[in-house]
Amino acid sequence: MQITIVARPAAEIRADLLAVPLSDLDPARWRLPARVATLDRALGGRIATVLSSGDFRGNRGQTALLYTDGAVAATRVLLVGLGPEEKLDVHVLREVAAQVVAEAGLHRSARIALLHPASRRLRTPAVAQAFAEGAILGSYRFDRYQTRATDGPTDGRPTNGRRNAPSNGAPTAVTHAALSVERAAEVRAARAAAALGTVLGEAQNFARDLSNEPPNHLPPEALAREAREMAREVGLACRVLGPAELERRNMGAMLAVGRGSSHTPRLIVLEHNAPKRGRGGSQARRRPTICLVGKGVTFDSGGLSIKPAASMVTMKHDMSGGAAVLGALRACALLRLPLHVVGVVGAVENMPSGTAYRPDDILKSASGKTIEVTNTDAEGRLVLADALHYAKTTFEPEAMIDLATLTGAAIIALGNWAAGLLSNHERLSDAIRRAGDEVGERLWPLPLWDVHREHMRSKVADVRQTGGREAGTTTAAAFLWHFVGDDVPWAHLDIAPTANTDRATPIQPLGATGFGVRTLVELLRGWSKVKL
Ligand code: BES
Ligand code: MN
Ligand code: ZN
Repeated sequence: MQITIVARPAAEIRADLLAVPLSDLDPARWRLPARVATLDRALGGRIATVLSSGDFRGNRGQTALLYTDGAVAATRVLLVGLGPEEKLDVHVLREVAAQVVAEAGLHRSARIALLHPASRRLRTPAVAQAFAEGAILGSYRFDRYQTRATDGPTDGRPTNGRRNAPSNGAPTAVTHAALSVERAAEVRAARAAAALGTVLGEAQNFARDLSNEPPNHLPPEALAREAREMAREVGLACRVLGPAELERRNMGAMLAVGRGSSHTPRLIVLEHNAPKRGRGGSQARRRPTICLVGKGVTFDSGGLSIKPAASMVTMKHDMSGGAAVLGALRACALLRLPLHVVGVVGAVENMPSGTAYRPDDILKSASGKTIEVTNTDAEGRLVLADALHYAKTTFEPEAMIDLATLTGAAIIALGNWAAGLLSNHERLSDAIRRAGDEVGERLWPLPLWDVHREHMRSKVADVRQTGGREAGTTTAAAFLWHFVGDDVPWAHLDIAPTANTDRATPIQPLGATGFGVRTLVELLRGWSKVKL
């Protein structure tokens, strides 16, 4: 999708559909913003007619479609409600942009435009970023396995192939989305902000694509291949450690998880601004190093501690943490962030078989610590134990953040409304939460204390893998903490609640959400202001 910024009178905007956002107000006192009033005059008062009918009150999400009959350059005008003016922010606007894209698809409109909402609450660059993000997120579909446009769910989403052939009933794909700003002087800043929004939206869609990919098509080696291809495309350094290298590095925890599968594990390592070797003390080396670590379990059957059938469906999404890390690295490269950002993804498939690891096994992790296995379905923490240790010892980062669909307990605690946030460092945790608030991804802190770390000691090994039914998200994090230690600021995001959804909205179709990408990039963009 091509995103552009224009500064032109509304009546002269050429588009299949021109969206006019309006806040909700008492219709009796409703005064149209100046630009909309001008547009309405060109339309012979059609907008005023709709408003006085009472059919459209500007409630959030409400729409009314008008055909312009050649009175203005656009073919259709879509009134779209913003809800109460005092609640208008970039999050509302992002969703409105996605909603406009969805409505356009239903009305054969490939080229859309949106009038900048005349609100003093929003700065133009923020509007442009939200518009680009929302339009791109709203255009996301995962339809590459639907061979005929008439197949698939009938929830109004288009299917593959004949995207632009609405005659068969499939919605039209939006190819051009323009934001119309009021003054020509605003165009430059709006373009830059829209470019940022585009990168963010596309990085999130990239993560969604990986997470939605079915597990037979995306075993660990395929995830590594996708990462390598993306790295080459955007100019990231990429290294993939295969099973032999993992053995050599004694990554016994991660390797154990992979033993039941015919697909061997991979450790994917991406670097943005990798310091140049040989020239010690070069400028690049002085950039702060941040490690992002992702759980990349391409399918989680539970292993020998096998999951019930119903719980196994959606476990292709168990690599969503890894996908978010890859998406964030992609954005870092495209935005040329002045940091050394490292992404480490442990890609493994967790399967039961005669060679699978077992409950009661004792594993030796890369750190040297031994682990008593108590439930092979608690595989993510084993993968992360080795990946975190690798990240910490290889890159000596200033901070380390991991993302993982780690526990069902996080869903019990938080529902699907927020991801869990656990950390050994309060200021890092606060900075991550603020970044999440800024971009509309909810994170909520859960406790992580020394008592929890003690709780994870084993009677027969150094640490035990699981800590019982209570405080499952915290005990999982406490396990990780044993491998991170206290000498590096670290935060763990349990994204099991938010990684995928079964409730579709215009900005979020069923399946993978790409959760975490926006928060990570927001945090890293503002890293110079984070004081650890
Ligand atoms: N991938 C799951 C966590 C999960 C569950 C994510 C449901 C999304 C939805 C993880 O590997 C797992 O199975 N965790 C166990 C841990 C338990 C055995 C201590 C869980 O949460 O039941
Ligand atoms: Mn599991
Ligand atoms: Zn898992």
